[in-house]
Amino acid sequence: MRSRRGQADPLPEAGRPQLRSQLWFGPDDLNGLIHRAWIGSEGFTRDVFDGRPVIGIANSWSETTNCNVHLRDLADHVKRGVWRAGGLPLEFPVISLGEAIMKPTTMLFRNLMAMDVEECIRAYPFDGVVLLSGCDKTTVAMLMGAASADVPAIMVTGGPMLRGIHGTQELPSGSAVWAADTERRAGRLSDEKWQELESCITRSAGHCGVMGTASTMASMAEALGMTMPGNAAIPAVDTRRSVHAELAGSQIVHVIEADLRPSRILTQEAFENAITTDMAIGGSTNAVVHLVAIARRVGIRLPLLLFDEISRRTPLLADVWPSGTYQMEDFYYAGGLPAVLAQLLPLLHRDAMTVNGRTVEENATGSEILDVRVIRPLDDPLAPDGGTVVLTGNLCPEGAVLKKSAASPELLQHRGRAVVFRDKRDLMSRVDDPNLEVDRSSVLVQQNGGPRGGPGMPEWGQLPIPAKLLRQGVTDMVRISDARMSGTAYGTCILHVSPESAIGGPLALVRDGDEIELDTERRRLTLHVPDDELARRRTAWAQPAPAFSRGYGRLYEEHVLQAHEGADFDFLEGGPGVDLAPYRPTSH
Ligand code: FES
Repeated sequence: MRSRRGQADPLPEAGRPQLRSQLWFGPDDLNGLIHRAWIGSEGFTRDVFDGRPVIGIANSWSETTNCNVHLRDLADHVKRGVWRAGGLPLEFPVISLGEAIMKPTTMLFRNLMAMDVEECIRAYPFDGVVLLSGCDKTTVAMLMGAASADVPAIMVTGGPMLRGIHGTQELPSGSAVWAADTERRAGRLSDEKWQELESCITRSAGHCGVMGTASTMASMAEALGMTMPGNAAIPAVDTRRSVHAELAGSQIVHVIEADLRPSRILTQEAFENAITTDMAIGGSTNAVVHLVAIARRVGIRLPLLLFDEISRRTPLLADVWPSGTYQMEDFYYAGGLPAVLAQLLPLLHRDAMTVNGRTVEENATGSEILDVRVIRPLDDPLAPDGGTVVLTGNLCPEGAVLKKSAASPELLQHRGRAVVFRDKRDLMSRVDDPNLEVDRSSVLVQQNGGPRGGPGMPEWGQLPIPAKLLRQGVTDMVRISDARMSGTAYGTCILHVSPESAIGGPLALVRDGDEIELDTERRRLTLHVPDDELARRRTAWAQPAPAFSRGYGRLYEEHVLQAHEGADFDFLEGGPGVDLAPYRPTSH
């Protein structure tokens, strides 16, 4: 996949900007001496302070984040590229958010990581940064932080892990565990098989190997223009990723020379390109809340209806789990994201600029589909419209999302009676109760899983099918919550209901037996309960107590916005390029 478009490209000169780093390392005074001497103590010769650009390498490496565990090595390749282009690389750690391990949910800490990234970029003498991410929230948080800091930046993601294999059977990492859990709860999977699965689904470093949130957001970063072309799908352990990292290290020096800041890349057109791409790859529903959050960092509002509008006109092209059949490794061999973007050119803003100094069209032109089983051409898509739809109605006045491409077609138009769970704990204590009054036409509802209610909007939205229905052969039901769902998950799950139940959204007022209607064709989600009855219930409703009395959790609960607003903090929104003056070095 190494191609002309993958090379580091010198950008046209835009007048050499003054380097921030020279405020630290340039002056012939006490400050300058201290800065040079202390960084020099790491073993640098003094000529590295000769006015060359200083490149921060923000590294989310951590042994608690298996998806990112190879980023330490990848950083060395970035450094090689920086040195080669005449820069000074300085690697620094940021918080790492390991999706599978961190509790209660990485989403609770996404904004904290974004603040960490933003403040480190500002507070240190960086002229540009390379962002090393991988697991779901690490990619999102780094884009949010870099957007706010608005210092030239290139993202390099860690790439997907090798495809899962058990014997000769392919197992999509991530997605396979949901299917196996369902089979086990239905009594159809032996303990032996369950244990074998454990050693087969995660065969290497790298993020989950399906079109889950990590692969989706890596694709979003590429579609936005914040990575070099081809970045998203190169497998984590493929040496072409190391080469790609070195090229990115060289390119960031050129990006600084051209002063190509995130604010010049993250435009309205770039976000529309990303949404179009998301729909074509059957991306994670999480992309909606994350793209909204990143956009608001640069002062751009993305109404949920824009996602639906784009979804209606964008065919589904990628046949990748959980919407399809193949895995990310196959997607890469089939041409990767450049092949998808080339197909999508008629639907994209072709002139949008990217970090290699070329437009989306220049990067994509000539990229071919190498396996039409995995990536379909625009004139022969898997489905005529996109993966994610946006619903509105009296149950979700500010919207909700549904991954249509991963739902059961026969449930997309459905009316059934609600079976309501007050929260996750209530659900887990009752869902497998043989006496639960539920049948295959029921609509499962879980409350208090949103940004405030979770708290942190956890990935609880793929509510488990009650065991007694699993044994009857039921594999999917309409399920509704204000939570999110893992990008690797599937089913007819309506997510991100906004406003959420914990602040009194209509979801809080649903009771057992209420009729709920999903009309995907008309994009409507309706609670068939008279308004006067809903008003009576509202009067009797009591807001749940906050989960945290102190610390970061309290800050989160007091400032988090709703799902349709990106679930960022209210005080972190705003245009980029906030005054860097407070961060200038002053005399000791
Ligand atoms: Fe990191 Fe799935 S756990 S991407």
